[in-house]
Amino acid sequence: MNQYNRREFLLFLGRSAAVAGISPLLVNCQSIGGSKGPRLPFHPLEPSFDDDLKLAKGFSYQIVARWRQPLNQRGDRFGFNNDYIAYLPFKKENPDEGLMWVNHEYHDPYYCSGWKPGEKRTAKQMEIERKEVGGSILHIRKTDGRWTVVENSSFNRRLDAYTPIPLISDRPILGHKKAIGTFANCAGGVTPWGTVLTCEENYDNFVGEAVFENGRRQVKMGSKYGSWLPFTKLPPEHYGWVVEVDLRTGKAKKLCALGRFAHECATCVQAPDGRTVVYSGDDTEGEHIYKFISLKPGSLEVGDLYVADTVNGRWIPLARRTDERLRKAFKDHTELLIRTREAAKIVGATPLDRPEDIEFDPISKNIFVALTNGRKSGNHFGSIMKIAEKGDNPLSLEFTATTFAAGGPSTGFSCPDNLAFDRAGNLWMTTDMSGSSMGKEPYKRFGNNGLFFFPMSGPHAGQAFQVASAPNGAELTGPYFSPDGRTLFLSVQHPGEWAQSRPEMVSHWPDGGDATPAPCVVAISGSALDEIIGATV
Ligand code: FEO
Ligand code: CA
Ligand code: CA
Ligand code: CA
Repeated sequence: MNQYNRREFLLFLGRSAAVAGISPLLVNCQSIGGSKGPRLPFHPLEPSFDDDLKLAKGFSYQIVARWRQPLNQRGDRFGFNNDYIAYLPFKKENPDEGLMWVNHEYHDPYYCSGWKPGEKRTAKQMEIERKEVGGSILHIRKTDGRWTVVENSSFNRRLDAYTPIPLISDRPILGHKKAIGTFANCAGGVTPWGTVLTCEENYDNFVGEAVFENGRRQVKMGSKYGSWLPFTKLPPEHYGWVVEVDLRTGKAKKLCALGRFAHECATCVQAPDGRTVVYSGDDTEGEHIYKFISLKPGSLEVGDLYVADTVNGRWIPLARRTDERLRKAFKDHTELLIRTREAAKIVGATPLDRPEDIEFDPISKNIFVALTNGRKSGNHFGSIMKIAEKGDNPLSLEFTATTFAAGGPSTGFSCPDNLAFDRAGNLWMTTDMSGSSMGKEPYKRFGNNGLFFFPMSGPHAGQAFQVASAPNGAELTGPYFSPDGRTLFLSVQHPGEWAQSRPEMVSHWPDGGDATPAPCVVAISGSALDEIIGATV
C-alpha cells in the first residue's frame, strides 16, 4: 500500500527534483507552444509584488460585489473579507441567473470598526464587526457579458453574527437549541440537493475556546481580531460547526453531526446508494481530515463521522458505541462531537500540515487535499495530497494517500489553500502565504499570493502554471466555476491587511490612488479559459 506519511513525502520530493529539474516558470511558452503536444493557452505569469489583480493574457476580470455594497432595502450590505463562493442558477437551462453564496470570514478592525489593539472596544464597534461577518446571499445575473447583483432583489440578504441558527444535535448544547450567529466562515461546499454548506473555522478568534481540563470547562480568550467576549458571552461550543443554508429562503441550521473543529471546508460526494459523503479538513497545524457519511439520502442531520489515519490508509470511526476509549472519555455523542479534536487523538488520527480545502476530481474519482504548510514540521511550502478511496467508493473505509504536488522553488507555488476542478477536469488552486510572511524569506521568490492552473492530462500534467497574482496583502480565495465553465468566480480577500494607519495601507485595490482597499468578488473569463475548457463560443 502506498502510504501518506513523512517518508513518502520526502521520497516524492526526491523523485520530483530528479525528473523535473526545471521550473514551470522556465518552461513557459517556448516549449509549451511548440508544434508537438498540446499548447498551454496562456503565458504563465511571473511572480509579482504589484498592487493589482494581475491576470495572464487571455483572461480578464470584472467586479461582481464589493465590501459594503448595498444589497436590499432593509439596509443589508455586502460584508468584509469574502471567502468561499458558490453559485446555483435558478434553472438548469439558464446558467446566467441565479443565487450566489459568499462567506465573510472575518473583519479587519482597522477598516471595519476603527478598533485598535490595546484599546477598549466599544459596544458600537462590536456591533459593526458582528455585521461584517457570516455570509451574503446575492441574486446575480449576467447581462451583455457582465455579472451584476440584482438591486433590491428579495433574495438578497445577509447572515451575520446576530442571526439565530438552530443547532441540529441530539440534545441542547449548554442548554440551547439555537446559536446566535455564524462567523469565521472560511470555505464550504454544495449539497447534491442544492443547499450550501458554510464552515466555521477560526471561531476562537472571536469568542475564545472552551477547554476541558480535569473535567472542568474553562473559556480561553481569543485575541487576533479582538474578542467580543466582554460584551457577548457567546459560548464557543455554539461555533466550529458546518452550517447548511437554503439560499432561496435564507434558512440555516448547524449540522453538529459533522463534528466541531476549525472546519475549513465541507466537500460533498454522492455515494452510489444515494447517501452523501462530506470531506472536511481541520485547518490547524497537527490536526486532521474527516469524512462524514450520512445515514439517509437528502440530509446531513444524522450519520457517522470518521477521521483519517493517512499512514495506514484507514478511516477510523468516531463512535462511542463501538469504542470503549471514547465511551470512557465522553458522556454522550454530543459531547464527543463538541470535542471532536480530542476524540480524533484518542483513536490515533494522523496529524497533518494544516488541512485546507478538499476537492473531488469527477474524472479520476480521487480526493485532493491542500495541506497549506507546517512550520513546526519544517514544511514551509505545503503540498497537495491525493486520496484514492478503495474501489473509488466514497463509502470505503480504506484508502491510499500520496503526494500530488509539493510547493517550493521548483514548482513555483507556496502554501496551497483553495482548490476547484474546471469542466475539463483540470485543477485550479489559490495560495495563502500569510500577510506577515509574504515578501520575506523563504517566500520572497513567490511574489504575492496567486491563482494557479494544473493541467491534469498531457505533457504538463501535474505542473503548476500561474494565472493570477493578487493585490498587496491579499489572498485569492473561493474559486468557483459557473455551470457552463466559462466564468471563474473568485474572492479577493484582505487587500492591504493589518494596516493600523493610512500610510501603512499596502494596497489601494481596486480603485487605486490613495483609496481604501476593498475585498471584492470578481468574475474571471476570457479566451484562454474558453480554450482550456473547450467551450464553443
Ligand atoms: Fe480560512 Fe484555513 O483558511
Ligand atoms: Ca482557506
Ligand atoms: Ca474548493
Ligand atoms: Ca486563507
